[in-house]
Amino acid sequence: MQRLVSVLRQDGVDKDLIHLVNVLGAACKEINFRLHQGALAGVLGSTQDENVQGEVQKKLDVISNTLLKDLLLDSGLVRALASEEEDDIVPGPESGQFLVSFDPLDGSSNIDINAMVGTIFSIYKAEAGEVSQQSFLRPGREQVAAGYVVYGPATLMVLTTGQGVKMYTLDQTIGEYLLTVPHVKINSDTQEFAINMSNQRHWAKPMQDYIDDLLQGAEGPRGKNFNMRWVAAMVADVHRILCRGGIFTYPWDRRAPEKAGKLRLMYEANPMALLIEQAGGKASTGTERILDIQPEQIHQRVAVVLGAANEVDTVEQYYRHQR
Ligand code: F6P
Ligand code: MN
Repeated sequence: MQRLVSVLRQDGVDKDLIHLVNVLGAACKEINFRLHQGALAGVLGSTQDENVQGEVQKKLDVISNTLLKDLLLDSGLVRALASEEEDDIVPGPESGQFLVSFDPLDGSSNIDINAMVGTIFSIYKAEAGEVSQQSFLRPGREQVAAGYVVYGPATLMVLTTGQGVKMYTLDQTIGEYLLTVPHVKINSDTQEFAINMSNQRHWAKPMQDYIDDLLQGAEGPRGKNFNMRWVAAMVADVHRILCRGGIFTYPWDRRAPEKAGKLRLMYEANPMALLIEQAGGKASTGTERILDIQPEQIHQRVAVVLGAANEVDTVEQYYRHQR
């Protein structure tokens, strides 16, 4: 089986980007180790703090954030980074050619029950000159690479550099990510959906109608039965879709009408949208393509509908007919 670095070289990826992916991979190996130590290392549970979005930080959120930040800044490759767990961007050396945004540990409420979590990352080429929050406010279609590392029964890196999506499994005996799925492809049709159903009464009408119709199964307007899955970690739900198809959505919710959604555009939606599109799927807010959104703030939230292309089109039709 081929090593991550040799696959990237074979794909003609720029050598500094290969180096950067390797640094991200190294940080994720460290995170993987801490996660596996669990209670033995005293890393479970919460801190006393909240992040900039008002969410309680888990100890492992903070540890993962620090590991990524230290290794990325040390590499000399990163002009600045933005993290879900940092209030502001963190500048790096002027030699740095890349901007990296990340969610250090997505789905961290799963940690205490020993369920899947992951690290999501997004990479842009840095522009010359001063770096500020403004430097990060670029549409997701400009990402040069995006991916995640999912920590489950096996630890995998799933990566795109704009030439499709590949999956690599971490061989813990040699500490290398080895290519295990060379061409990830999502079927255009599906009979499986992922949504937090307990929020149904808070969604906008088009989403309520869409899900109602799915639940009616073969007897309803869709004429087929649908299965439901919800891991409650976006990284794991998206991973399932890249493995066996489906649709995932986290829609707008009237309890926080001022927020476009729950998930973060830069740390979650954009990198996942690039992966999904590169695997032949679609990623939308319900009304527009996620990768075309012009961000206004680094911690901006967004409604997310992604996965099987025909199913995402169907959701967009429900939103169109509402207006
Ligand atoms: O990062 C936010 C997040 O943890 C996602 O990973 C996940 O999809 C979602 O929140 C889970 O939300 P809920 O608590 O509504 O199930
Ligand atoms: Mn997250």
